[in-house]
Amino acid sequence: MTRLGTRFPTADLPFIGLGTSPTPVRRLDRLGLDAEVWLKDESVFGDGGWGGNKVRKLEWIIPEAHRRGKDTLFTVGGIGTHWGLAAALYGTEHGLQVVLGLVDQPIDDHVRDQLRRLDASGAVIHRHRSVRRLKLAAPWILARHSSHGRLPYYLPAGGSSPVGSLGYVETALEIAEQVESGAMPEPATIVTAVGSGGTAAGLALGLRLAGLRTRVLGVVVNDSFRLDAVTVSRLANRTAELLRTRGADVSIELGPDDLVASDRWMGETYGASTPAGVEALQLAGRTEGLELEPVYTAKALGAIRELGSELAGPVLFLQTHGPRAMA
Ligand SMILES: Cc1ncc(COP(=O)(O)O)c(C=O)c1O
Repeated sequence: MTRLGTRFPTADLPFIGLGTSPTPVRRLDRLGLDAEVWLKDESVFGDGGWGGNKVRKLEWIIPEAHRRGKDTLFTVGGIGTHWGLAAALYGTEHGLQVVLGLVDQPIDDHVRDQLRRLDASGAVIHRHRSVRRLKLAAPWILARHSSHGRLPYYLPAGGSSPVGSLGYVETALEIAEQVESGAMPEPATIVTAVGSGGTAAGLALGLRLAGLRTRVLGVVVNDSFRLDAVTVSRLANRTAELLRTRGADVSIELGPDDLVASDRWMGETYGASTPAGVEALQLAGRTEGLELEPVYTAKALGAIRELGSELAGPVLFLQTHGPRAMA
């Protein structure tokens, strides 16, 4: 049983293991930072062709699709979407057809590589120039991929539904176990990139469930929709509500003061790299052997570097990017 399943043994929470946990933690002491910074390496999570934080969400989403009797997943993202790629690879492996509605974003080498991987992933791709155009096309896409009168299982960008967020409730419980076993100190702050909110929301809820005092600092990198402490805490509360509906005894309610979500490090727009992010990415590769990417994780580490000792420590940096060697 998973940690969440173990904690709520009578709750109806279907789960499928797609990765190996716990993911490793270690101190990052070669970055030349004032603060005590630790790493939780989510990049190694995921036994299939892609890793990282999206796989944690799919451990709950894929069995939920089966539970609902769905044979098709429909989800959306930018043309460089890590979420869409993970959904395509793991969904297909578990008997689901995956349909992606993709929207153009600034193209760099990373996005070009992602597009190539997406094309080879087995997903059906509908590409549009803007979110507005994709929204207009969505009813047609849903109808086109319905079978036997059954609509596809729709998941929002990043898989950040309450079901997807369970992945990071579980990860927070895993962090609490690692603290308890002495693998790392209790973090005062966890820093993670926020692209659609599910990771930060799940963590914030799970940390409270685990009884840790750790607070989440979400580094918002997406301006395509509203993402702030209000929307992230709302998602955490919808996730708590889902747990209750499924029979778990959860009475926690979060408010916007329970976490921080700031777009201060986003730069111009979603997908645009920033000088501070690129510097952090290069430093992390050179000194700690970390493979970050410019859109999410580089900006999160850039925030840690900029805040330095202003940030309550120990700090835990979540490395959420999970590249794999793929043809
Ligand atoms: C590498 C990486 N890190 C972090 C995130 C943010 O996670 P979330 O979408 O749950 O906010 C994403 C996706 O959006 C991602 O691809």
